[in-house]
Amino acid sequence: MTTAIDVFDPRVYESGIPYDAFGRLRGEAPVSWQEEPSVLGWPAGPGFWAVMRHDDVRHVSRTPADFSAFLGCTQLRDPEPEDLDFTRQMMLNMDPPQHNVLRKTVSKAFTPSKIRQFSDMIARRARLLVDEVIERGECDFALDVSDGLPLLTLAEIMGVPDSDRHLLFTWANRVIGYQDDEFGTADPNAGAAPAPKSKPVNPRSRAALTDMFQYAHDLAEHKRRHPADDLITTLVHAEVDGRPLTDEEFEMFFFLLTVAGNDTSRSVIPAGVLTFTQHRDQWRRLVEQPQLMQDAVEEVLRYCPPVIHFRRTATKDLKLRGQRIKEGDKVVVFYPSANRDPEVFAEPDRFDITRDARAHLSFGDGPHVCLGAGFARLQLEHMFTEVLTRMPDLEVTGDVEHMRSNFISGIKRMPVRFTPGPRLS
Ligand code: HEM
Repeated sequence: MTTAIDVFDPRVYESGIPYDAFGRLRGEAPVSWQEEPSVLGWPAGPGFWAVMRHDDVRHVSRTPADFSAFLGCTQLRDPEPEDLDFTRQMMLNMDPPQHNVLRKTVSKAFTPSKIRQFSDMIARRARLLVDEVIERGECDFALDVSDGLPLLTLAEIMGVPDSDRHLLFTWANRVIGYQDDEFGTADPNAGAAPAPKSKPVNPRSRAALTDMFQYAHDLAEHKRRHPADDLITTLVHAEVDGRPLTDEEFEMFFFLLTVAGNDTSRSVIPAGVLTFTQHRDQWRRLVEQPQLMQDAVEEVLRYCPPVIHFRRTATKDLKLRGQRIKEGDKVVVFYPSANRDPEVFAEPDRFDITRDARAHLSFGDGPHVCLGAGFARLQLEHMFTEVLTRMPDLEVTGDVEHMRSNFISGIKRMPVRFTPGPRLS
């Protein structure tokens, strides 16, 4: 069944996530066939199945035997045939048993005790970022405050020297922001028809990222010679099936971390603060009852999921909620829709920091469930603590600009005003 509701065009997301459209699909066509026309200079694709219900998003994510992350990888757009082998070397794009082995190895750098070890550092970084703007009484919250935290956290946990930190930011923007001219390599005549004759360079190809791979290689060499208490040192000494990670495996994982750990957290921080400005009662309650912080973070993640979708490929002809899906079809799960499924969350459109929101799927589910969730949660906790207590009257004073992307729901600009206060460090 084809529906007229467009959840594909990246321009739809410039006004935020289209929850009404998602809700209609979830109710009327929970697994629907969607067209994939040529937009933003990218060629048309064959179309895909959009999966909207919580139950089905979980099922697809948890059943790699039927829904493969490897066959067509995990992005909605098919990789170019010449990039397929390269893209499949990323853990995100592997199926069991290959995925299990690599995941087990890199998980050694993400144990709860390793994550806790970075809590004070993240708290300090959040405090410094608020210090930078607090005396001014106004700023662009997205650019001046939230953009810095994921990058600094990532650099710190990976052990990237201060002088190189801006590089992480550039690479993540090149890869994630590619549908948005301001951030990536998108065609500046976005949306102009007909599609250009020559295809843009795929920003996820090795060719577009040679500087990043060389940097990862050099950093690994450095950490082998100068071990430190950081994630890269853990990784270069980790073993897969009794052998260390190959250079290629390491470099692909570095690439994955740079992308996965940056734009995701950086998008949800301003979205969360914006949501608190729209729900002052929840803001006051959290300040009065800081013990609710962990529940509040889960509710923000449910309410403002930064990742819109991931893709799988059907490994055989099968049925999903009555729809006949053919072997090779793309199956795309929409997390924001799952998070508002009334069968799982009562009054799903209500923002309520006291609800149990832990069933949200913002971090995915199944074998690929987000490895960095612990780091993301810490960043949210510490940043909300700073902002909610030190900028209690913060208000948004201008247009909130969203990224033009059907993959990441990101806020690019959010002008805010607040009563100036003292720096604390
Ligand atoms: C709020 C912030 C974040 C969100 C919403 C998020 C979301 C996700 C989702 C939905 C997946 C599953 C992909 C799939 O099933 O195909 C995922 C995987 C992953 N995430 Fe995150 N992520 C966040 C932050 C981070 C951070 C901070 C890091 C690293 C420090 C990270 C590292 C990863 C990695 C390595 C994977 C791949 C796991 C695998 O393939 O086994 N993420 N993330």
